[in-house]
Amino acid sequence: MIAIAAERPDQREAVLSVNRAAFGGEDETLIIERLSEAGLVIASLVATDGDRVIGHILFSRLNVMVDGRKPKVAALAPLAVFPEYQNRCIGSRLTEAGIAAMREAGQDAIIVLGHPAFYRRFGFDHETVAHIASPFSKHAAFMGHELTTGALKGGAGTCRYPAAFGIPEDEALQR
Ligand SMILES: CC(C)(COP(=O)(O)OP(=O)(O)OC[C@H]1O[C@@H](n2cnc3c(N)ncnc32)[C@H](O)[C@@H]1OP(=O)(O)O)[C@@H](O)C(=O)NCCC(=O)NCCS
Repeated sequence: MIAIAAERPDQREAVLSVNRAAFGGEDETLIIERLSEAGLVIASLVATDGDRVIGHILFSRLNVMVDGRKPKVAALAPLAVFPEYQNRCIGSRLTEAGIAAMREAGQDAIIVLGHPAFYRRFGFDHETVAHIASPFSKHAAFMGHELTTGALKGGAGTCRYPAAFGIPEDEALQR
């Protein structure tokens, strides 16, 4: 049976393996390790099949300002499911459980850089964040989902990713 729960400390190696297999490289494992070391993780959830970790989703603190307000915003990244378990709703269940966890954690909104066709079904869209300057503002893949109505609304804003994401300084706030 597939279950979703908070990551336990002894599952970290398995979490890194899932991300390595899903993304085919170390970019995401490095981000996970750096976010953890920086104390920026809000929640890290795993999907398990028995004892085996087969999926993972992580939420971390993001520095967002909109019209002088500072809503509590979580970055959703990364989300990964082992290739042989993909297309069995595990990514969807992790996303839904993660959104519920962010509500419980008192977050006002979630921002993701991801596949629009996948995230739109959970309430994410580009229009919600199109006015917020970030390295990805021009891209349809940059999407937001408000948990508190109006949290991201405004004339202008900024979204700064922590160094853990490895975004070059000169790309920090393009629009
Ligand atoms: C994206 C990912 C997490 C989805 O997990 P999953 O368990 O296969 O997802 P689900 O079974 O819940 O949903 C599958 C749906 O996602 C869609 N999907 C998967 N990858 C997609 C992509 N690259 N672009 C758009 N849609 C995608 C599938 O087409 C499918 O749509 P359908 O329900 O209309 O058939 C998984 O494919 C994965 O780990 N991919 C590699 C890493 C990655 O790209 N992570 C996301 C970064 S934002």
